[in-house]
Amino acid sequence: MLPHKKINILIVDDELSIRESLDGWLQQDGYEVETAEDGPTALARIQERHYDIMLLDVKMPKMDGITVLKELKEKNPETAVVMMTAHGAIQDAVEAMKLGAYDYLLKPFDLEELSLTIEKLVQMQTLAMENLILKERVATITRSDNLVGQSPAILKLFETIADVAQSDATVLITGETGTGKELVARAIHTNSPRCYSPFIAINCGAFTEHLLESELFGHEKGAFTDAKYTKKGRLEMANAGTLFLDEVGDISMKMQIDLLRVLETHEFTRVGGTMPLHSDFRVIAATHQDLKESIRNRTFRQDLFYRLNVIHLEVPPLRERVGDIPLLAQHFLRRYATETGKKVDSISPEALELMRRYEWPGNVRELENAIERAVVVGKGRQIKPGDLPFCYPGTGTEEMRNLSLEEVERRHIAQVLAAESGHISNAAKVLRINRTTLYYKIKKYGLAS
Ligand SMILES: Nc1ncnc2c1ncn2[C@@H]1O[C@H](COP(=O)(O)OP(=O)(O)OP(=O)(O)O)[C@@H](O)[C@H]1O
Ligand SMILES: [Mg+2]
Repeated sequence: MLPHKKINILIVDDELSIRESLDGWLQQDGYEVETAEDGPTALARIQERHYDIMLLDVKMPKMDGITVLKELKEKNPETAVVMMTAHGAIQDAVEAMKLGAYDYLLKPFDLEELSLTIEKLVQMQTLAMENLILKERVATITRSDNLVGQSPAILKLFETIADVAQSDATVLITGETGTGKELVARAIHTNSPRCYSPFIAINCGAFTEHLLESELFGHEKGAFTDAKYTKKGRLEMANAGTLFLDEVGDISMKMQIDLLRVLETHEFTRVGGTMPLHSDFRVIAATHQDLKESIRNRTFRQDLFYRLNVIHLEVPPLRERVGDIPLLAQHFLRRYATETGKKVDSISPEALELMRRYEWPGNVRELENAIERAVVVGKGRQIKPGDLPFCYPGTGTEEMRNLSLEEVERRHIAQVLAAESGHISNAAKVLRINRTTLYYKIKKYGLAS
């Protein structure tokens, strides 16, 4: 197990003997303990650091516990408070509970009882945190999938993943769109000692600078107009786990500076906050951009690049691992046949051959989409060339043998036009006919250009 952050407790009581006995007892229980002798001192402390729990005496000379509680709930609502009150002053305890205290203990109290109360509280706090990450986790589980592949390139990648998973070093994953970068990042996490803690992904390209900042660092209530509640950031949520910074090449120059600092210290403050927070996360970043090029164009900081690029994984494009295509196609076929309840269970050799020859600019994602569509539109138990969006029958296939010459020409022109995005001059070049002839044929076959 990874070392978890020690729970820290602030004891606030004007009586020295109480402070001392609680301090000693709770330290024996394994907590990090600090003490304050009055309300103003306690409030000064919470400005400086975050406490998980506060044990707070109700009756104190300079400022009573209820006033301290109110202030604390304003400034740091996440600190859980246990009130300490004398017998006979139970109405104070009740009022404190209404104001958001978690529990109260009646003085003189049993130290065993104190231990139990704190233990329960810690469990509850852990639970609240887990709930927060639960949504993220469910998404992870339902989306997580085995990495499929058997080509030499992908087998080498699997080996590297297994190696890298054992270390805590920062990883930069690069590769074209749809190659499986996110899947690789998840695989590193699930094979790492951090696997029982959350995998928190954030798509840095999907937010404006301002939103990204509050997503990453969290924000305090009132930090900006829409900040109605205090919100934990992804950095905090990723504590003891893995933080996946997707599309890291899209981060603004200003945010790059902030991010660099956090990666170096693991310390940060929420937007609108002053309290330094600490989180123990492992970073995996991904991008489809060429960051070295971005450094040359001065849109990406070199120091951040070096910080991220400790271990570099390149996921090869699908066209460079053709050997994986049949396996991946079968994998997606099973998935979508099950999902749609259609009885499709094989891919014809001709369709497979076409898939092997196709370039797959959208890589595995495009293959996945093609199979999904084929399962939906196809008739019969087998996927045929005609079911594939980019395909038209190649020579020698059974379907081809039954086509007229005109039909073959029509399909071929349509295909080339689609590939050239309707650009007539380019399509004419590929077809090696002049533009006038191409216009004529488009008209003849009723093709949209
Ligand atoms: N080796 C693989 N085995 C099984 N499924 C895969 C594999 N690689 C990718 N996929 C699937 O392909 C799709 C795209 O993968 P992923 O989202 O990881 O790609 P990406 O590189 O992050 O893409 P982008 O750059 O567009 O964000 C996902 O549905 C994923 O499950
Ligand atoms: Mg991705």
